[in-house]
Amino acid sequence: MLIKQTSTSLGDTLRHRRQQLANLIDFPVILWSGNNNPRNFPANTFPFRASSHFLYFAGLPLPKAAIRLEAGKLELFIDDPSPSSALWHGETPTREEIAEKIGADVARPMAELESWLEDAATLAVQDAGTWTQQSQLLNRWVLPQSPPQGIELELAKAIVSLRLSHDDGALTELRKAAAITVKAHKAGMAATPQAKLEAEVRAAMEGVIIAQNMTTSYNSIVTVRGEVLHNEQYHNSLQPGDLLLADVGAETEMGWAGDVTRTWPVSGKFSSTQRDIYNVVLAAHDACIAKIQPGVEYEDIHLLAATAIAEGLVELGILQGNPQDLVEIDAHALFFPHGIGHLLGLDVHDMEDLGDLAGYEEGRERSDRFGLSYLRLNRPLRPGMLVTIEPGFYQVPAILNDANVRLKYENVVNWQRLSEFADVRGIRIEDDVLVTTEGSEVLTAALPNDADAVENLITP
Ligand code: GLY
Ligand code: MN
Ligand code: MN
Repeated sequence: MLIKQTSTSLGDTLRHRRQQLANLIDFPVILWSGNNNPRNFPANTFPFRASSHFLYFAGLPLPKAAIRLEAGKLELFIDDPSPSSALWHGETPTREEIAEKIGADVARPMAELESWLEDAATLAVQDAGTWTQQSQLLNRWVLPQSPPQGIELELAKAIVSLRLSHDDGALTELRKAAAITVKAHKAGMAATPQAKLEAEVRAAMEGVIIAQNMTTSYNSIVTVRGEVLHNEQYHNSLQPGDLLLADVGAETEMGWAGDVTRTWPVSGKFSSTQRDIYNVVLAAHDACIAKIQPGVEYEDIHLLAATAIAEGLVELGILQGNPQDLVEIDAHALFFPHGIGHLLGLDVHDMEDLGDLAGYEEGRERSDRFGLSYLRLNRPLRPGMLVTIEPGFYQVPAILNDANVRLKYENVVNWQRLSEFADVRGIRIEDDVLVTTEGSEVLTAALPNDADAVENLITP
């Protein structure tokens, strides 16, 4: 599979990444891409997504391939298409053509990989077929979701240090993903007045992405049940008083992600209670983005969002007390139970296949506090990092109806006042923010988030 990009620019980007890796480690590395797994017979496969570590250095989503990196050199292992493949798949590029495209120094068939394994480090690919193959060939367990050790830990740390700050090649792709993500959200808003079901709005949004020959970077969330944080069902009908929460992101052909959420009124007009809470979430969003610059701790951005939400809810009479004190007892987390965001790159929640190695500065661990345990990034920000800022307000029955929670927070929540906001199930406003040397750039700024502007995008 070849992707339109001049071989010089792709080759140069990849060569630079390899050289940077070689500056950090002195052992060979083998990265597998993963399999295109069959559904019911070999040619009917689930959608293929190459491993992101492979993509970072190989640039192309090649199934059943591996690369070996040593001292800045790239060896590609992939099989040529079988003679019968042309009948079903048309003409596909040869190993040599692919090797030229990505600037590989050598290209070999997969069967030769076993002669090149000695002293090599790898990282586990998510699909079971591939990590089993990795484990068999290397004669040790290579398991996803299990912390790397020894030279594999060294490799993981080296890759994290490269992938944390995006290079120009990555930023070109991330800007493309952001632009199409913005377009998809505008299409979703425009489609809402005619739509009867969540699924129709999802179709309008994903249609924009698919029409660019892109895919989604995670399963879309398009729901009137916004309080279900990762709701992946689309069967609900749209009613005039509903808010629709859409968390949808495009992924470029080379695998780079967008991740945006907007929440809008199905009728085209927020009710006064919906608008009040929307503006609380927006104030938190804007305050966080205004503070982003190199050196700032992302945890402080999270706490800033928590405080802004607590302040807004106190002003509305939903919470009672001093906002700082409320954050200290995690009262904000009753309504904002997740972190303010995460790293974004080749994946949404970039590099979380490595646990908290990428998200957490060395020596830091997750807090077990209710209001901090879902914080996915806890590092000082540095130029080139792309993060999401995604505050929210949710009325989650499992939290708000829990007897212990109600007892603990009985004096800080005005439950009677809260009941007046029953038409706000979930609101999230999410943008993709690049840390620059001076401050920040919102890559998804072309998508309005002001309540009036959002209404204007919906009204037919
Ligand atoms: N789309 C998943 C997230 O925002 O984290
Ligand atoms: Mn996100
Ligand atoms: Mn999202």
